[in-house]
Amino acid sequence: MGNAKLIYDDKEYELPLVVGTEGERALDIGKLLAQTGLITLDPAYTSTGSCSSKITFIDGDQGILRYRGYPIEEVAQRASFTEVAYLLINGRRPTHEELVSFRTRLTRHTLIHEDMKKFYEGYPPHAHPMAIMAAMFASLSSFYPEDEAELDLNIVRILAKSSTLAAFAYKKSIGQPFIYPRNDLSLAGNFLRMMFAVPAEEYVVNPVMEDALNLLLILHADHEQNCSTSTMRMVGSSGANLFASISAAICSLWGPLHGGANQAVIEMLDEIRADGGDYKKFLAEVKDGKSKTRLMGFGHRVYKNFDPRAKLLKDAADRLFSELGIHDPLLELAMGIEEEALKDEYFIKRKLYPNVDFYSGIIYRTMGIPTNMFTVMFTLGRLPGWIAHWLEQRAEGARIHRPRQLYIGETLRSFTSR
Ligand code: CMC
Repeated sequence: MGNAKLIYDDKEYELPLVVGTEGERALDIGKLLAQTGLITLDPAYTSTGSCSSKITFIDGDQGILRYRGYPIEEVAQRASFTEVAYLLINGRRPTHEELVSFRTRLTRHTLIHEDMKKFYEGYPPHAHPMAIMAAMFASLSSFYPEDEAELDLNIVRILAKSSTLAAFAYKKSIGQPFIYPRNDLSLAGNFLRMMFAVPAEEYVVNPVMEDALNLLLILHADHEQNCSTSTMRMVGSSGANLFASISAAICSLWGPLHGGANQAVIEMLDEIRADGGDYKKFLAEVKDGKSKTRLMGFGHRVYKNFDPRAKLLKDAADRLFSELGIHDPLLELAMGIEEEALKDEYFIKRKLYPNVDFYSGIIYRTMGIPTNMFTVMFTLGRLPGWIAHWLEQRAEGARIHRPRQLYIGETLRSFTSR
């Protein structure tokens, strides 16, 4: 396999071909500007690889997702979220002793500084919890200054305190007292208790919910160079600390085309239901394109086949409902929409399949998690991935990210004339 050749202005340039471990090919254009004076133009990065990475592999045509080489289906079946976090961050599975020690550290660091509780007082009750999460993560950097010797501990702090910060945001929004973390519970169990316990009653974690939450967190843990992870790397490339980089990544995840899609899916299903449940009418609106309505939870930049996470979540939703004996009309509606869309020419032609957000919201709803907390749940899951990418980039000594542009504005004009 040879290099590619570019002929420009009657001169020939060689563009080195680089091949990844899974046979993926890329053209290295790093020297293009210096050699030819040209830049490339790819505004949404459709054909642009921004880095090489050893963390996650996706084959979008075949619907494959692997963390550090392990298929997502096996990871989802066998691992705890804590083990997945260790795997992504350290690049290998922990030994039994390492896992026990990591788990212990994650439970010991769940408390947040008492002064941080005061921040919550300043927010109006309707504040979006993603706004609170972004602010709280940026604020963590003022309590735990970033220095090299503290990096490992700061990673533990971030993973441990994130559930507490998230649950406190929810308690604030409903005007209930904060419930402090407990060290004898799993990460997922502790989070559920901090969300739903009230001081007047004993709270027992439901193991079915705990397992479902563990699965959701695992499925969200990493997804290579998505919008928020690219933000994490972009911000980190300037030398910004881990807390600040995460705060930026949280803001990026918030949007409805990215992590905010899980909230948007439920809002869409609720609207269809309120309008009489005629999803064929809704799909017709999506297809005609005039209203710019999208079928939320469908489509993906990389997957042109089933998102393997959506398959796992659909099965999980089925299991959860039968184990808990719940009937949710939104699940039936979602399944009806999926069936209809998958046989429709519009969706087939554009290779639009359900993505991770199509079923995740329905599961969160069953757990009693309110819609505006869904993207916070995505955040809790995605933290190990963001951290792994930030560390990988730093270890490589990556240069500051600084894309170029094609200027299409006014040419030189004088400020003296109007
Ligand atoms: N509903 C209807 N049409 C769609 C949809 C959709 N959900 N997604 C894409 N299309 C159409 C789009 O209109 C375009 O059609 P045409 O070629 O006729 O103009 C074509 O498919 C290609 O779409 P695109 O917008 O160029 O694709 P993209 O790669 O830029 O966008 C996406 C990817 C995920 C933003 C998009 O599919 C979308 O908006 N989906 C709904 C939001 C969503 O579910 N987001 C969560 C993504 S998964 C979780 C995560 O990683 O964040």
